[in-house]
Parts: sequence; C-alpha cells; structure tokens
Amino acid sequence: MSFTIAIDGPAASGKGTIARAIARRFGFHHLDTGLLYRAVGARGGDPVAAARALTGADLTRDDLRSNEAGQAASRVAAIPEVRDALTDFQRRFAAQEPGAVLDGRDIGTVICPDADLKLYVIASDEVRAQRRAAEIGADPAATLAALRERDARDSARSAAPLRPAADAVILDTTEMSVTDAVTRAIAEVRARLRAP
Ligand code: DC
Repeated sequence: MSFTIAIDGPAASGKGTIARAIARRFGFHHLDTGLLYRAVGARGGDPVAAARALTGADLTRDDLRSNEAGQAASRVAAIPEVRDALTDFQRRFAAQEPGAVLDGRDIGTVICPDADLKLYVIASDEVRAQRRAAEIGADPAATLAALRERDARDSARSAAPLRPAADAVILDTTEMSVTDAVTRAIAEVRARLRAP
C-alpha cells in the first residue's frame, strides 16, 4: 500500500521545500505540480493542446521559475480542460510505492482527496515575497505584486480553487525557520505512518 501526502498552499509559502524534505526523509517520490502548469503556460499556443501533449522534457526547461512563468501558469490553470488533461498523470504519480508527495493548489481537495496526510502551508504575503525574490533573484516589490495577483486568481477561479481541504493540517511558516517547518511536517507524517 502506498502512502500519499498532499501539500497545498499559496505561492512561495514553503510547500515545495517541505515536500522535497519529506520525500528525501521517507524515500518517497515527489512531484511539484506547479511545474506542470508552468510548462503548459511556457509552451504557448493552445493551452489545452499543450496540456494534452506535455512530456517530461517540457518540465526541465530552465525558464519556468520566473514571475512571468508563474503568471502564465496561473492563467492556464483556470481552464478546466487544462486541469482535466493533467489529472490522470498526477493520480498515477500519487499511487507509486512506497509513497508520494505532491505539492500544488488542489492536491488535497481534487487530485488526492483520500491522501493519508494533507498539509496546507501558509505564510504572510511579505515573507513569501521576500523568500521568492531571494530564490529567483527578482525585485521584492514586483514579486509581492505578482504573488498577490496570482493568489487572487488561483483562489477566485471556479475550477479547483486554492483552498484548504476540510481535513488539512494548517502550517503557518511565517515565523518558522525552514528546519522548524520541516520538523513539524515530518512529525505529522510519522504520526500517520504509525496510525493503524
Ligand atoms: O506552485 P507554483 O507557484 O509553481 O504554481 C504556478 C501556478 O500554477 C499557480 O499560480 C497556480 C497553478 N497551479 C494550480 O492551479 N494547481 C496546482 N496543483 C499547482 C499549480
């Protein structure tokens, strides 16, 4: 039986860092689902056709991390047919042995509603913008504006909007170090791995 962990939250909340750390610690597979939407946005042309034709090679482009790629991803992610085209791949990924960690916006609500653990990672807008700007070498003020625009769009869309699942554990990393956040998340995993 595989073990599935769903990690959702707004842009740059720390969910990717936590997801990678959990995957490493427990030997689980990890999928950054935002990359799928970034790759669809970066392909250009008809986004539904792009989502249907997506391959592994699309995910390794080195221009996917920018604020612009994030905005393009958020726009194509509002199209229900784009989301549908990416669902099977994510669910197959989630079912892998011995376990899988997926991070995104709708993992706990839509992709893996039966996940063994759901985390919803948040942090203040300012802290998220600082972290992301440092990571990608962008201007903090422009990054703050870009994150707010993206979160508003991701939360307001009708197809799989950004929101915590009813049974998600909320993790606010605003005042936490990376080590503290990872330690808390790992404790949640351990508690559920022990559960019958
Ligand atoms: O996680 P990220 O910042 O790389 O995601 C980029 C955009 O993709 C995000 O603004 C919304 C969209 N997205 C989504 O709609 N559903 C997901 N599971 C992951 C990302």
